[in-house]
Amino acid sequence: MLSYQHAYHAGGPADLHKHIALAELLTLLTRKKRPITYMETHAGRGLYDLSAPESSKTGEAAEGIGQITLPECPFTAALQSIRAKHGETAYPGSPAIAQALLRPDDKIHLMELHPAEFRALKHNIKNAATHNRDGYEGILALAPPKPRKGLVLVDPSYEVKSEYLQVAAFTRKLMAKWPEATVLVWYPVLKAGRHTEMLDALKLPFLKDEVSFDLKDNKGMTGSGLALVNAPYGSEAVFTRTRELGAPVLR
Ligand SMILES: C[S@@+](CC[C@H](N)C(=O)[O-])C[C@H]1O[C@@H](n2cnc3c(N)ncnc32)[C@H](O)[C@@H]1O
Repeated sequence: MLSYQHAYHAGGPADLHKHIALAELLTLLTRKKRPITYMETHAGRGLYDLSAPESSKTGEAAEGIGQITLPECPFTAALQSIRAKHGETAYPGSPAIAQALLRPDDKIHLMELHPAEFRALKHNIKNAATHNRDGYEGILALAPPKPRKGLVLVDPSYEVKSEYLQVAAFTRKLMAKWPEATVLVWYPVLKAGRHTEMLDALKLPFLKDEVSFDLKDNKGMTGSGLALVNAPYGSEAVFTRTRELGAPVLR
């Protein structure tokens, strides 16, 4: 099902949680000179305009990035570099954050299935391999990549209930093919608690960070979660820092 469009949610509290943590984690993983591979199963269009009708319609960006003034940090660096190029209402998707923070020798592979989102992604994100294919199948086909040290962001829309277990099965298969990979899974924390089934089915050690927030039109979502499989040394500090930076939107 491809009815989900991230433009309605870009810059909202859930994006802040995911994007601040992603920027911190990429910085941690690139501390050493060795190049890394960064991959995304669900890339979206990479770049959003918070003055667009989609953004005004939900008001989520106003409830997220609109509520905080960020100090100097990796996410701020990515945001500023995007705004310098595209204007003050631009907001970076996860591919643009990676592109802003990674180095010339690092490799980026982005999967996006929706044809229009894919066209926009290809246009917005240069110097990355973009793939118009199913993210689960595509990443498994490329794994293990070179360089073998790397991060995979798994960020589906969870439009269908079965996606929770699909994410768990995908992560297990990926770790079997590419044991050096670090995998960051984003999930919504819903009143229905569907994410717990996914976390149980992972059957792998992981570090978890869940935050809560208030959205005027929350559709049952009370917070956002990140599960980090094969967490590198220093990952606890990534989540502590994310909460500090995201306060008071993220609690
Ligand atoms: C939550 S959005 C991604 C947001 C992006 N990661 C970010 O943080 O900026 C999910 C995206 O996955 C795409 N999508 C849905 N099913 C997919 C699939 N099976 N494979 C790849 N992309 C898919 C949707 O079109 C949508 O653009």
